[in-house]
Amino acid sequence: MNIKHSILLLVLCASFTLSAQKRIPKVEDLLQKMTLEEKIGQLNLLTPGGGVATGEVVSKNVETKIKAGQVGGLFGVAGPDKVRVAQELAVKESRLGIPLLIGSDVIHGYKTTYPIPLGLSASWDLALMEQAAQMAAREATADGINWNFSPMVDVARDPRWGRIAEGAGEDPYLGSRIAEAMVKGYQGNDLTASHTKLACVKHFALYGAAEAGRDYHSVDMSKVKMFNQYLPPYKAAVDAGVASVMSSFNDVDGVPATGNKWLLTDLLRDRWGFGGFVVSDYTSLNEMIPHGLGDLQAVSALSLKAGLDMDMVGEGFLTTLKKSLEEGKVTEEEITNACRRVLEAKYISGLFDDPYRYLDSKRPSKDILTNENRALARKLAAHSFVLLKNENNILPIQKNKKIALIGPLADSRNNMLGTWAPTGDLNLAVTILEGFKNVASNATISYAKGANISDDEEFAKHVNVFGPRIEIDERSPEVMLEEAIALAKNSDVVVAVVGEATEMTGEAASRTDISIPESQKILIRNLVATGKPVALVLMSGRPLTIPDEFELPVAILQVWHPGVEAGNAIADVVFGDYNPSGKLTATWPRNVGQIPIYYSVKYTGRPAPESGEFQKFRSNYLDAPNSPLLPFGYGLSYTTFEYSDLKLSKETIGQGESISATVTVTNTGNYDGEEVVQLYLRDVVRSITPPKRELKGFQKVSLKKGEHKEVTITLSADDLKFYNGQLNFVAEPGEFQVFVGTNSDAEMTKSFTLK
Ligand code: BGC
Repeated sequence: MNIKHSILLLVLCASFTLSAQKRIPKVEDLLQKMTLEEKIGQLNLLTPGGGVATGEVVSKNVETKIKAGQVGGLFGVAGPDKVRVAQELAVKESRLGIPLLIGSDVIHGYKTTYPIPLGLSASWDLALMEQAAQMAAREATADGINWNFSPMVDVARDPRWGRIAEGAGEDPYLGSRIAEAMVKGYQGNDLTASHTKLACVKHFALYGAAEAGRDYHSVDMSKVKMFNQYLPPYKAAVDAGVASVMSSFNDVDGVPATGNKWLLTDLLRDRWGFGGFVVSDYTSLNEMIPHGLGDLQAVSALSLKAGLDMDMVGEGFLTTLKKSLEEGKVTEEEITNACRRVLEAKYISGLFDDPYRYLDSKRPSKDILTNENRALARKLAAHSFVLLKNENNILPIQKNKKIALIGPLADSRNNMLGTWAPTGDLNLAVTILEGFKNVASNATISYAKGANISDDEEFAKHVNVFGPRIEIDERSPEVMLEEAIALAKNSDVVVAVVGEATEMTGEAASRTDISIPESQKILIRNLVATGKPVALVLMSGRPLTIPDEFELPVAILQVWHPGVEAGNAIADVVFGDYNPSGKLTATWPRNVGQIPIYYSVKYTGRPAPESGEFQKFRSNYLDAPNSPLLPFGYGLSYTTFEYSDLKLSKETIGQGESISATVTVTNTGNYDGEEVVQLYLRDVVRSITPPKRELKGFQKVSLKKGEHKEVTITLSADDLKFYNGQLNFVAEPGEFQVFVGTNSDAEMTKSFTLK
């Protein structure tokens, strides 16, 4: 590629999302040459199998279709040699030689799997998350992939929903910052570079609000809630230049997202200025039939007209659009527009310039699973852990102790990577037992399983669809328990690794009971009864209900599903080489009856007493407090931090002005550590009911023991704004209250007035 060409390409990439109207000559030339069938072919995304098939359909006759120009992209194919075969079919054997997009679900690392996204979000470390996405992009592109079905930015406030594991939790502000970081990490500044790829923000929209936390269930919400609480992370991804958007399975205002014109055109393109292409989710176009929107031809026409450009796997576009055109149900212009958007994505990836740009067979061994990448995965995991409790400072454990390492997840390689890690290799995962031996070689470590993850065979069958995750032991629960108790009694300290198997969360993995399974609860109670100090290492892909375990005199370290370096990272934290700094990004309820639960609730007209005491005719429960077990933003450290001297830069500001809050944070404990300083804002009076408080800024700071720092967080004019009843983004004059502290219950406060 010559310099002039590269500059043109760079300019086009940079302005990609804003350039809905801008035409790329190469693409326009191609469109002139294309037949109707070839244009429709570009709208077809297939998978020959080999990846995870999340629906019942797998594409057939893929090779023939590629040669016939009936395929715009593939997913589930990886490796430079395999991708080359597919790419050559398209480039050399189809009439116009249009290269393919090669997609993949690289959700939390490609081969170097890092923590599930909910875990990663708990690091609150945007730079680290961007680095994680960069690593994933480098590895995936080394294997021939040029398009990633990530980031997943669905706000989720219902931990029954298994896919809460795949996103950044409950908060639109934090979710937006993370969405930007991930898009930047995947796409970089130059999409034609060999280590960057197109990102795809999903699932547009509101997928995380499925009723009753049941996957694929209906969604229904007001526009003000959508705009203020659920849409911001998708918009942030669009503003960050994301190249593609995936429509969600659910309906929005009664119309499935995949065929929803308000969503895909009025909002996404016209209001937000998105200029990239929209792909459906796996057969979500066809699924509009059982949704009740008509037959395949009808739903395909509806989707095209709504603004869908690419049909994943279902072939509704491929098989019906021509007929719909002949019958006047769609226009050729609509087909051409969709095709143009797919071709433009190929163009900005540099695929027209060199269709084989990601197919260097020397790259996988150089770029994938390198020591450097594994070290980053280990660091990401350690930074994602959240210390929930640390009774008697049980953690960290000295490296010379006699340790009983117990629990069904302590030596369970199959459960380390977490949900949606189809590109990872679970055989490469480091177990906790291995990690402990690596990090504390002077400790005496003995292991017992102690319990099954669950004793329920029927439940295990539902979980084990991708292979054994819950392995029910041949020994009876009593025999396993006895062995564990004996081991515990004969040790200085017990570390119990308990919680969820990987596939107990994720897609189509909703639960109505989100407690630790009974088999493991029995184990925990018995270990504590030995009187030995017990540290629980809790694994899960969602907030759990743990009111009983939380009452026990134990330490609890929440580790999510940590990825390929699981055992090493857990050992780093358990033995104090890294002081935990993670903070919850989704509220932990006391029981499922409190769900949906999130910190940014409203007061209502009959607020519950601040004391938490029950009061008749107030908005509270007869049988439980309103407060969660653990609030959003919560997380402890081996050290302690104190906040003092909150100051605001001004008492009054005008429209369009910013304001800063400064606070002093002191490390008052015995370890160096990191703290996530959080700022919440309450708009006291406004035209639509305000949430009690909303996160509007945060900063992760590192403090040596005894050290103090002044931390300043600046609120921009936009941070004061919200979408009003007319969906205008405005800041209304009046009082604003700022809260700064260590979690969403922060009490230190100051007020200012917006004129
Ligand atoms: C999931 C998507 C995923 C797609 C392709 C679907 O079932 O909802 O998140 O990208 O499959 O694998």
